[in-house]
Amino acid sequence: SLQYGYSLGVINAPQKVHAHTVYFKQHYGRSLGVLPEEPLLLSENGTGTEKQEVHPSVVMYWSLSVSIFSIGGVVSSFLVGFVGDLRGRVKGMLMVNVLAVIAGLLMVLAKMWKPHVMVIAGRCVMGFYCGLSSGLVPIGSLGTLHQLAIVTGILLSQVLGLEFLLGNDYYWPLLLGLSGAPAILQSLLLPLCPESPRYLYIKRGMVEEAKNSLRRLKGEYDPSADLEEMRREKEEVEKEAQVSIAVLVRSSLYRQQLFVALMMHLSQQLSGINAIFYYSTAIFEKAGVTQPVYATIGVGVLNTVFTMVSVALVDRAGRRTLTLIGLGGMCICAVAMTVGLVYLRVYSWMSYVSMSAIFLFVCFFEIGPGPIPWFIVAELFSQGPRPAAIALAGCTNWTSNFIIGMTFPYIEALCGSYVFILFAVLLFGFTVFTYLRVPETKGKTFEEIAAVFKKGKKPGTRKTGTETGTGTGTGTSTELEQLKS
Ligand code: GLC
Repeated sequence: SLQYGYSLGVINAPQKVHAHTVYFKQHYGRSLGVLPEEPLLLSENGTGTEKQEVHPSVVMYWSLSVSIFSIGGVVSSFLVGFVGDLRGRVKGMLMVNVLAVIAGLLMVLAKMWKPHVMVIAGRCVMGFYCGLSSGLVPIGSLGTLHQLAIVTGILLSQVLGLEFLLGNDYYWPLLLGLSGAPAILQSLLLPLCPESPRYLYIKRGMVEEAKNSLRRLKGEYDPSADLEEMRREKEEVEKEAQVSIAVLVRSSLYRQQLFVALMMHLSQQLSGINAIFYYSTAIFEKAGVTQPVYATIGVGVLNTVFTMVSVALVDRAGRRTLTLIGLGGMCICAVAMTVGLVYLRVYSWMSYVSMSAIFLFVCFFEIGPGPIPWFIVAELFSQGPRPAAIALAGCTNWTSNFIIGMTFPYIEALCGSYVFILFAVLLFGFTVFTYLRVPETKGKTFEEIAAVFKKGKKPGTRKTGTETGTGTGTGTSTELEQLKS
């Protein structure tokens, strides 16, 4: 997860954010034969490249370097279930770590051959790796820690990308290549980790090994209660047929759950969070901050702090409440940001409105819409359809991430200061959707969640408050039988 965040942060930024992107472009230009040998000049604060003309082919290869990462993720998100069950969790992770190391090496060695080809290849492999890990990791009660590691990775890349650290002409390949380093560390530590007892018991039927594994994890204790729980789950799994992606898409039985899961992933990406990561530096520049890079790092710090807040709150406040607060708050911030930008020329103090709006936007995102979609899919679906649902949700997330990454500069050029109104409208829609359709999953079993979807109760109509239902479930037991057969 840390590697995913690092890879997002290290390169998913416009040329003005980090000085090192200037160097990337310079190397690209040289290796494409479209730039003179002498170095490009940085402006005083190390960020200004706007006056320098960049050759269209450099821009094209550069955009590809950024976006190929998401394409790798889109492809591999379909393979999550397959890899997870292939050889067990530990061996599975060891195997996929090879990909991260290869990706890291391609980037570290970028200067040795054509940098643009090496970086694009490295980013593609890294995206493929991250697509797998972002499906494999956030399962179970540690779900919010996935996002915490992502935001830590983003922050780490922002700090290491400072010019006096690795964001310079000499070290930029290392800056990129370091994204593979955690995989080396993990590979050294994984052999010391016990295999997942649930995998051993439920998938492989190895009761003794599962018992040993539990003891290694928890110390000397009586594992019979845990084993009993696993036995029941194994029974459930055996009753429930594995549902393929094609069946899941066509089945009306899971339609409501799937709709909610995909909408939550769409709301995470179409909220414009990654656009904020691109845009903040430009706004900070307008606000007269002399070192906008540091203000952007400030955004990264807040991002991390509020993810921690979410980790602490998520099991108390519940998923639905936090998502609602987050999306609603982001919507208001997007409006404030627009007001700030539009009136900037009239009142100079409006820059502070935009700045505060950016900071708050990120805080609201991390309260709910950031971490929750990553693990809610595993909570909404039982064992049978879960891998297919995770694959579809991952694919939706990566595709929408890709679309925002590619189209935002054009939308920005088209809408100017009004660009965030678009996100405000989307966020308003997602807030209403969450209010009407997203049930609370905290502390509920799959059966209870499925029942909520089937009953088609309107959320908020219950006197008890937080526990809610969704629209009209259409699944019937006959359908379930058909699906099984
Ligand atoms: C989530 C999103 C990712 C975004 C990050 C920001 O993990 O999936 O696209 O960059 O949050 O913290």
